Amino acid sequence: MHITQSVTEDLIYLGASDRRGRLFENVYPIPEGVSYNSYLLKDEKTALLDTADKAVSERFWANLKAALGGGAPDWLIISHMEPDHAANIAAVLAHYPETRVLCTAGASRMLDQFFGPVPAERKQIVKEGETLCLGRHTLRFFTAPMVHWPEVMVTFDETDGTLFSADAFGTFGALNGALFADEAETGAHEWAEMLRYYANIVGKYGAQVQALLKKAAGLPVRMICPLHGPVRRKEIPELLSRYDRWSRGEGEGVVIFCGTIYGHTQDAADYLAVQLNRRGVTNVRVHDVSAREPSFLLAEAWRCGTAVFASSSYNAGVFVNMENLLHDLKAHDWKNRKVAYIENGTWAPSAARTMKAILEGQNLTEIGSTVTIRSSADGSEAALDALADAIAAEA
Ligand SMILES: Cc1cc2nc3c(=O)[nH]c(=O)nc-3n(C[C@H](O)[C@H](O)[C@H](O)COP(=O)(O)O)c2cc1C
Ligand SMILES: [Fe+2]
Ligand SMILES: [Fe+2]
Repeated sequence: MHITQSVTEDLIYLGASDRRGRLFENVYPIPEGVSYNSYLLKDEKTALLDTADKAVSERFWANLKAALGGGAPDWLIISHMEPDHAANIAAVLAHYPETRVLCTAGASRMLDQFFGPVPAERKQIVKEGETLCLGRHTLRFFTAPMVHWPEVMVTFDETDGTLFSADAFGTFGALNGALFADEAETGAHEWAEMLRYYANIVGKYGAQVQALLKKAAGLPVRMICPLHGPVRRKEIPELLSRYDRWSRGEGEGVVIFCGTIYGHTQDAADYLAVQLNRRGVTNVRVHDVSAREPSFLLAEAWRCGTAVFASSSYNAGVFVNMENLLHDLKAHDWKNRKVAYIENGTWAPSAARTMKAILEGQNLTEIGSTVTIRSSADGSEAALDALADAIAAEA
């Protein structure tokens, strides 16, 4: 059986969804699975755009053979060498001895590193802006360094206005029959999962995403074919504008991250949330950093414009799960937000200074005064009211 889908008359979707793997990149939970997308463009010459992860190799091969109908691809176009798309490259080259690879110089080096030397006559190295004519279709290649590997390039089909965007504009979640996002529901949940993908995988490279967006702005893009998740047609302007905001570090709403051992700090977080609500701030969420998995917390940090870090002190530092979150934020270069701090300490409060030290250099603007709680939040109402005033004034 093959499960291919037509994207256009001569573009075939060969990808596959994995619902069995629990973790993407062996770290990010994917409760709803993930798709590994691959495309075949059939013209006078045939181009295969990327392969697929080894988790879906069988499905990929069945789809590829069906789509080729006994032929062979003339070209294998490699967006980047990350194994979730590159795992089947060596097998494709072995199975189809006439197929030539087209990729950047950086990808060519990595190809040899992963699979052993590929003969030079089977490689075509392309540079920024170069083209390949397949017959009716002309493909133009644009580098997208560090979105999110150094050797990345995207491919623009000038004939149909299709942007093969590599990992950009991808999302977690297996496909559910519909290949096009506009033929399925795209609600708050889908956008949240896309942001979780963006923040965790691409988020660190905001400047490089901005560079890619500038290149894309000059192209008449009518369709985006990413390497994960559905193909995009109708919501392209929305997608570009969200990527623009996400990559510039612009968010909205207030997120209160709470690190608590026994619950007293949680009281302060909840009290503050209620006070914000009373002051008309409606976009508020409270997260216990021990209760939510880190990739979701990171996405929430990306979504918000203001983050409140409320944490217990811990062995002369900050509570361990809060410390982990802050290091994760720093590692992903989370920046340009408004922040506020609440600490709890029973004998020598140390959480606030530890939190501030970890986030130093991230261009964060502190709002209000740091609130220090001594064991119980009772008696801290006035300080929390003042913090709510300060946050509400900025929101
Ligand atoms: C293992 C452990 C280490 C702690 N280390 C400190 C500390 O270094 N300084 C301090 O003032 N309080 C320390 N505390 C107390 C907590 O910061 C906090 O005041 C107390 O747990 C009550 O808040 P909670 O209910 O939100 O956890 C520690 C508590 C625990 C359980
Ligand atoms: Fe990738
Ligand atoms: Fe990927």
